[in-house]
Amino acid sequence: DIFPGRRNSQGWDWTDPRDMDEINTARNNFREGQSKAAPLIVSTKAGTDQRNIHAPAAPEDHVGTVHLASAEDAVAAVKAALPWSAPAPDRAAVLLKAADLYEANIGQIFALLAREAGKTMPDCIGEVREAVDFLRYYAGEAGKLTGEARGRFVCISPWNFPLAIFTGQIAAALAAGNAVLAKPAEQTPLIAHLATSLLHEAGVPQEVLQLLPGGGDVGAELTAQQLVDGVCFTGSTATAMRIHQSLAQHGNAAAPLVAETGGLNAMIVDSTALPEQVTRDIVASAFQSAGQRCSALRCVYVQEDVAEGLIEMVRGAMDALQVGDPWDVSTDVGPIIDAAAREKIAGYIEAARAEGRVLHEGQAPSNGTFIAPTMLRVDGIAQMKEEIFGPVLHVATFKAHQLDDVIDQINATGYGLTFGLHSRIDDRVQSVVDRVHAGNVYVNRNQIGAVVGSQPFGGEGLSGTGPKAGGPLYLTKFTRSNGAPALP
Ligand code: SER
Repeated sequence: DIFPGRRNSQGWDWTDPRDMDEINTARNNFREGQSKAAPLIVSTKAGTDQRNIHAPAAPEDHVGTVHLASAEDAVAAVKAALPWSAPAPDRAAVLLKAADLYEANIGQIFALLAREAGKTMPDCIGEVREAVDFLRYYAGEAGKLTGEARGRFVCISPWNFPLAIFTGQIAAALAAGNAVLAKPAEQTPLIAHLATSLLHEAGVPQEVLQLLPGGGDVGAELTAQQLVDGVCFTGSTATAMRIHQSLAQHGNAAAPLVAETGGLNAMIVDSTALPEQVTRDIVASAFQSAGQRCSALRCVYVQEDVAEGLIEMVRGAMDALQVGDPWDVSTDVGPIIDAAAREKIAGYIEAARAEGRVLHEGQAPSNGTFIAPTMLRVDGIAQMKEEIFGPVLHVATFKAHQLDDVIDQINATGYGLTFGLHSRIDDRVQSVVDRVHAGNVYVNRNQIGAVVGSQPFGGEGLSGTGPKAGGPLYLTKFTRSNGAPALP
């Protein structure tokens, strides 16, 4: 280990006035409408199509402006991309410097995370911690690699972790010496632009890391380039499948696709579990980040004998959640990312209401950008046809003798991202954990917020390809281990 002293970020304490001062100053200095994003590419003729970015929490507010990359920009960027010729220790040093720069700029980063992505303060802290942990962890792993860089990697990242996942993908590809073409989610280009600028400032050469803000068309153009040697993607299972097809169609059938995709995450609670702890863990897993996490709990199976009491406790905890402005430090649940996503979730809840399946709804401001935390009754996870990416918890019950059947139902979804189990019977814990197919299994705790280095994150089946992010195998996919020469 070339950095034996690596420690994960300790984060920021918003009860500490010294930490809060910096954040408050950034918030007071934040100028609406002033933030900008544009392609950061070697070619000078970058796209000019312009779009305004609005705040998820207040869509009438103009946060900033993005110049979108065009299809021609994507082609030019791939052609101009050059793998990172610096030796591994030098690459690592640059990534470590970038981590320090992220920390030095947390005020500005927090402001954009809250305004552009609607992140609550606890989520902002988690995002920056995870981003700097990825940078430092992959810097440490760079020195252990035996394979050569693959060449050019396309990194396509989601809006729900616009800093952490954006940075994690790029840091992994860079640590292994690849050139990166980064296509951030179209909802969050401002954060991506700031992060890319900090990476460049730390010393990543321009031709090694290029940024192409844009929509699915830019992503599709990038993955259709024959010069591309690999893709790292986090998003829907359907898009991951399209990327795979595109790689194959464009003569890149052997290029690796490292994908983290969707899930239908379940939890099982038996009658021996501690109700207070279960309540807290259900609420955190289902409603933190407004349920906009791929790891979020979607369906909890509760043993019938304790179900009524537990549902009542969850109702109480849902009522205590403060839903609203992410800038307010006491807010627990922020907005839904955009109107289209909100309408989809609202329509889903309406359909459940028509069927009389609503067990409880919390409170939310009625300005049209929030969804109140909602609990729905289902017979089982099979009733859920798709992942609803919002603060919607489904509850099913089971009898003691049905436990095996419940595990079969969960495995039958074909997904396998996170799974939670609450039980105080050791043998049962072991047998359930052995049988369930999920990348990340959490026992007697919540099931979100995997920690870099100690809880590598990734799914099985429809939930992703592996290797897990933040784990010791991740970088191997970004290298050629067969001894083939690296590009160019
Ligand atoms: N890494 C995130 C989590 O564990 C994924 O959404 O919550």
